[in-house]
Amino acid sequence: MKIIFATNNAHKLSEVQAVLGDGFTLVTPRQCGITEEIPEEQETLEGNASQKARYIHDRTGENCFADDTGLEVAALGGAPGVHSARYATDGHDFAANNRLLLRNLEGKSDRRARFRTVISLILNGEEHLFEGVVEGRIIDHEAGHEGFGYDPLFIPDGCERTFAEMSPEEKNAVSHRGRAVRKLAEYLHSLEAATEK
Ligand code: IMP
Repeated sequence: MKIIFATNNAHKLSEVQAVLGDGFTLVTPRQCGITEEIPEEQETLEGNASQKARYIHDRTGENCFADDTGLEVAALGGAPGVHSARYATDGHDFAANNRLLLRNLEGKSDRRARFRTVISLILNGEEHLFEGVVEGRIIDHEAGHEGFGYDPLFIPDGCERTFAEMSPEEKNAVSHRGRAVRKLAEYLHSLEAATEK
């Protein structure tokens, strides 16, 4: 099955492709001639995922999905949350975001945090939402070089290494996005199985 994934982030693309498997061919917005930035102006992850998926669907008429992720830190009242990409600056400056997060958590003993991903799938014009959450904690220094974003600062519960110290397979097995994408995959596989009957 061919489906558009509303991202131009190469890391996300390979994480999601690995979970979905060979039965799905992911197409990027750029491959469909959509070169402008896809708008995400809502105040919730659900709203942003939905806005991105609808934008691609309106432009192409094709089946598509979009994800939106936030890091929700308990001691910061759930921040940066939906503002995770632009926490420190207007751009997606991962290093500056990580520095600001460490500064804002200085001296705080409560380091609990969670990543939450929401996926909006638009299939034959109808929207379906899927969610994935991973609980964990923020450490006080960066560790590891894999992954992207806040990965060097986040250790999931039950693990001793940050996401940035894990292989893509290890991260996918427990991550927010891995969980949300597995729900998406189960749903798409169930439809395929139903049409084959
Ligand atoms: P997005 O809007 O889904 O691209 O995610 C917003 C921001 O959250 C990104 O710019 C990253 O800083 C962060 N983020 C999203 N997914 C991950 C992840 O899997 N690991 C670490 N940071 C992430």
